[in-house]
Amino acid sequence: MDKNVIISPSILSCDHANIESEAKKINLSPADWVHIDVMDGVFVPNITFGLPIVKAFKKHSLKMLDVHLMIVKPENFAEEFIKSGAGILTFHYEACTHAHRLISQIKNSGCKCGIALNPSTPVSMLEEIISDVDMVLIMTVNPGFGGQKFIENSYSKISRCKELIQKNNSKALIQVDGGVDNTNAKKLIEAGVDVLVSGSYLFNAEDFNKNVELLKYCK
Ligand code: DX5
Ligand code: ZN
Repeated sequence: MDKNVIISPSILSCDHANIESEAKKINLSPADWVHIDVMDGVFVPNITFGLPIVKAFKKHSLKMLDVHLMIVKPENFAEEFIKSGAGILTFHYEACTHAHRLISQIKNSGCKCGIALNPSTPVSMLEEIISDVDMVLIMTVNPGFGGQKFIENSYSKISRCKELIQKNNSKALIQVDGGVDNTNAKKLIEAGVDVLVSGSYLFNAEDFNKNVELLKYCK
């Protein structure tokens, strides 16, 4: 495929006992970013990791850190995640009352900003802010866990997001996260996706690099 698709491996599924070698494995692969899922046990029914893990990847990674906050009141922690090494910081629309204010704060700190939508949240909620964000993250599973089944309805949601972006002359990228593998990557890219996040499909693979290529080039 001609389009240069960005691949962001989700370290939720990596070997957490060997962060340095996992970061280096990603460095040596054709993957573009590193996706880091921060969960608080309140916004989502799971707890993962926080600032120290972002700092650890920053120390060893050559790729941009794509930090996905699944936490309530993301405004309380945005600054710390940016200081810890986030290159793009994504928060959930559903978790923040003053999204416009937080987008400005993140961008004024010199970081790129993404906004994430749960599967039940319509794209139309972004009408007033689509020109302000660098990326829209469309969740293709309900956030909280790796290895869940991709929600098929996501394709039409991606098309609606693409339309909204074009209508507003926005430069926002479209990212998808959850259940992404070689069976749906091509169709997702054709629907307008720019960034594919993938966890279990990449980290459970026998050959990590080969699976990254299968997503990136849809071979
Ligand atoms: C889910 C996380 C995802 C997760 C994806 O809440 O946001 O990033 O790691 O995992 P897979 O690719 O296994 O569905
Ligand atoms: Zn994620």
